Amino acid sequence: MQPAPSFPKVLPQDMDSSETPSLPQKIPTHIAIIMDGNGRWALARGLPRLAGHRAGTENLRRIIEACIEFGIKYLTLYAFSTENWGRPAEEVQGLMRILEDVIDRELQQLHDQGVQLRHIGRLDGLKPILRQKVLQAVEYTKHNDRLTLNVAFNYGGRDEIVCAIKRIIEDGVPKEAITDELISRYLFTAGVPDPDLIIRTSGELRGSNFLIWQGAYSEWYFTPTYWPDFDKEELRKAIVEYSRRERRYGGVISSGKEATTDAG
Ligand code: FPP
Repeated sequence: MQPAPSFPKVLPQDMDSSETPSLPQKIPTHIAIIMDGNGRWALARGLPRLAGHRAGTENLRRIIEACIEFGIKYLTLYAFSTENWGRPAEEVQGLMRILEDVIDRELQQLHDQGVQLRHIGRLDGLKPILRQKVLQAVEYTKHNDRLTLNVAFNYGGRDEIVCAIKRIIEDGVPKEAITDELISRYLFTAGVPDPDLIIRTSGELRGSNFLIWQGAYSEWYFTPTYWPDFDKEELRKAIVEYSRRERRYGGVISSGKEATTDAG
């Protein structure tokens, strides 16, 4: 007797006839990524942690290019959190240098590719020269619209909400005017749609103060792969998984005989 055929992981309708499997029709508009595992990637190779961050930086280019190719419109990357100041001084300085290098070396190519660079987080903690470079990069690319790349640097979700509340009070907004939409407009991500899909690499299952307001209804995808190894194919797999999820926003399942209520 013939063994029963096993079902392919990617459904036939998700594929095209070319060698590289294609994307499903339903793709996220906005993907956000917690790029975790650089330290462990380096440790596994007997290298210093900063070598892991450098390898993670090399990977940025691949993922940015894949996002452009896949037609993703917004990509948000968690590069340095408000909590990362607690790391050894050498590592903190190294991450600052990486941001500066990325701007110095990659800005023109990003611009040529139609990438609009945005910064989310606080610039006030950064050295004046770095602050200025970030502002110039944002200004230089502001008319690009192929991919909006939000770099979360010195970013924390709670800090973002505290900053928003302070500005709302400073602006004298009356309490009747306070709505979800108004609060969203006061966040660092003002004007950016909420992330559809948040990816965390390295096997950790935490949100770590990332986009806590904006991610209220995001789909999460966790993978054990360390960030420097998270390549285009891994990204495609995350998108395929996303395409199979049914987003309910607290409503009920739209198909099937028995509607199920959902808390989230
Ligand atoms: C988490 O891995 C990663 C970071 C805190 C930094 C991420 C930064 C980059 C990938 C460089 C790109 C930077 C810019 C400025 C665009 P971890 O060090 O916590 O890894 P571990 O949990 O294995 O120790």
